[in-house]
Amino acid sequence: MLVVNLVEELKEKIKELNGSIGFVPTMGALHEGHLSLIKKARDENDIVIVSIFVNPTQFLEGEDLDKYPRREKADKKICKLANVDILFMPTINSIYNRDELRIEAPAIRGFILEGAKRAGHFDGVLQIVMKLFNIVSFNKPEKFRAYFGKKDAQQLTLITQMVKDYFINVEIIPCDIIRDSDGLALSSRNVYLTKDERLKALSISRSLKRASKLVMQNILDKKSIEKEMREIMRDIEIEYIAIVDREFNSIDKIELKNSILLVAGKVGNTRLIDNIWI
Ligand code: PAJ
Repeated sequence: MLVVNLVEELKEKIKELNGSIGFVPTMGALHEGHLSLIKKARDENDIVIVSIFVNPTQFLEGEDLDKYPRREKADKKICKLANVDILFMPTINSIYNRDELRIEAPAIRGFILEGAKRAGHFDGVLQIVMKLFNIVSFNKPEKFRAYFGKKDAQQLTLITQMVKDYFINVEIIPCDIIRDSDGLALSSRNVYLTKDERLKALSISRSLKRASKLVMQNILDKKSIEKEMREIMRDIEIEYIAIVDREFNSIDKIELKNSILLVAGKVGNTRLIDNIWI
C-alpha cells in the first residue's frame, strides 16, 4: 500500500494505473462502517483509493475539529489489511489555497435538518468532495466510483445532487449503515460517549426499530411515529425527527420504498445522527 501526502504525488501515481477506481473518502478513525465501504470498493474495482482528511471547512466554529479522533497508525494498518492500493492523507496546504472559490449547498435541501443545525457544514463537505473527486479522477479512469454511507443520508443525497448538477464523471455508490451488536450506528464520534451515555444513545436505534415495526403495521403518518419515538428517546435531547423522500423533500407520511426516517440528538455533549431507509 502506498501512502501519499501531496496532491501532485497522487496524480503521478494514478497516471501509472489502469482500470476502474473505487474511491472512499473519510476523515479517519476508521471503524467497521468505513471498512464496509472499503470492502465494497475492493470487490467492485481494480484500484482502491482511500482518503483520510479531517476537513476543517465542514466544522463550524465551536465544533469538535480539534478533538476529532486522529488515529493515523491504526488507520494505516486497517487500510493495509483491507488491501487498499493508495492511502491519500493530504496535508492541509496541498488541499486549500487562500481566498478560494466557494461551493454552496442548495438553498433548501442544504439548509434543512443537518444543514439547519450546522449552517455551512454542507458547503464545506461539497467543497472537499469536489476537490477529492477532481484529484482522484483527473486521469479519467475506465470507471470512477465513489462510496458513501447511508448513515450520513443528507450528505449522500447532496453529493449525488452535486454530481448531477455539475456533470461530474463519477458513479456514487450508497452503502448500508453498519451497527454495533447493540444497535448503535458506528461513528467515529462514539468514542466520546461515557458508558452511561452510550446506554442512553441506544434509544436512538431502538426508536428507529420501533418505527419500522409501526410501518410494517401500516402506521405511516409522522405524528404517530414521532410520538412513539419521542417516548423511547425521552432521556436524550432530541434535535429532530424527520421524514424525507429519497431526494430529501420533507414529507408527513412514509412513502414505502421512497422514504428516509431521520433522527439527530445529543447525548451529553455528543451529537449523534441515525436513520432508516424505508
Ligand atoms: P466520515 O465521517 O469519516 O465518513 C466517511 C464515510 O463513511 C461516509 O460516507 C460515511 O457515511 C460512512 N460511514 C460512517 N459511519 C458509517 C456506518 N456506521 N455505516 C456505513 N457507513 C458509514 O463523512 C465524512 O467522513 C466526511 O464528511 C467526508 C465525506 C469524508 C468529507 O470530508
